[in-house]
Amino acid sequence: MTSRRTLLGAGLACLLGTACAPASGPALLTRLMVFQADRLPTGFAERLARLATGDLTAMYGLGPRLSGEIAELPAFAREHIAPECRGGDLLVQVSGSDRTALSRAATDVNALLGRRPRWVQDGFRSGRNLLGFHDPIVNPATEAEFRSEVWRPDGSTVAVVRRLRLDADRFLALTVEEQERVVGRRRDDGAPLSGGPPRGLADLHAKTPDGQWLIPADAHVRRAHALASGSGMMLRRGFTYDNGPADRGLLFVSYQRDPRTFTATQARLDEGDALMAYVTTTASGIFWVPSAVRPAVPPA
Ligand code: HEM
Repeated sequence: MTSRRTLLGAGLACLLGTACAPASGPALLTRLMVFQADRLPTGFAERLARLATGDLTAMYGLGPRLSGEIAELPAFAREHIAPECRGGDLLVQVSGSDRTALSRAATDVNALLGRRPRWVQDGFRSGRNLLGFHDPIVNPATEAEFRSEVWRPDGSTVAVVRRLRLDADRFLALTVEEQERVVGRRRDDGAPLSGGPPRGLADLHAKTPDGQWLIPADAHVRRAHALASGSGMMLRRGFTYDNGPADRGLLFVSYQRDPRTFTATQARLDEGDALMAYVTTTASGIFWVPSAVRPAVPPA
């Protein structure tokens, strides 16, 4: 019998585009498309689901106008967003390991909707981001965490999508030690500057004998930490994107039950996160993801 953990872990991971590529196979690729639409075509969800063949997955979310469940995101600092890259009615994301299958599925989605996206971005998963750091490390992992942080009571969730252009050259000109103080973790093994194992949890309270924070006050992991932002945890499922030397960065996607988890965290980053000096946001949207797009959460 399939265990609840397997159902939630594997099915969900697949739908959120995290674990669909064979372990030794090519990197997972994604195409994210945002459309303007007054309504969904009849049978859209079923027709979209039929596009998923092989390891290709497809998910969708509805913007504030179509869902009635969420409000548009407010403006944040360091945004440079063209009008067509802000908001949107419908998010469709296809992910998989086969570039041709992905491109065919994207064409089918355009045909299904009878239009082209307002904006589109391809991305790929890599164990380290463009800055050379392990990412992601901290995410909800247990069924209880998914239930309390990611799913709404009806099994739906809320996706925030942001295209974050990175000034990687300027960041990489810092010494490794300076880079690590910006992030709050070691570059080689992902260990937090507070000490502990590779990819371990950060201890925000840890200090040097003379009373200095081991994780600096403006380090990204401190500013983004759920304790510091006073918000819940978000599930981050970002992808690296590369539109050429002048436009490379992180296609940030987070899932949370409450949009305030994102807005409170982003506000806290804007107030004093050293990493944000290297980031410009060039696209932004929020979408309600119906429960039908993923397996039902097993009862408690
Ligand atoms: C291009 C911009 C960004 C880069 C390069 C980046 C990179 C990183 C890295 C390397 C880590 C440490 C490893 C990990 O836990 O995954 C991290 C942690 C984290 N980031 Fe970002 N990040 C970016 C933007 C954001 C944004 C916009 C948010 C949310 C508004 C965010 C939220 C978080 C959270 C919640 C953590 C975990 C903190 C903890 O509890 O330890 N990040 N990020």
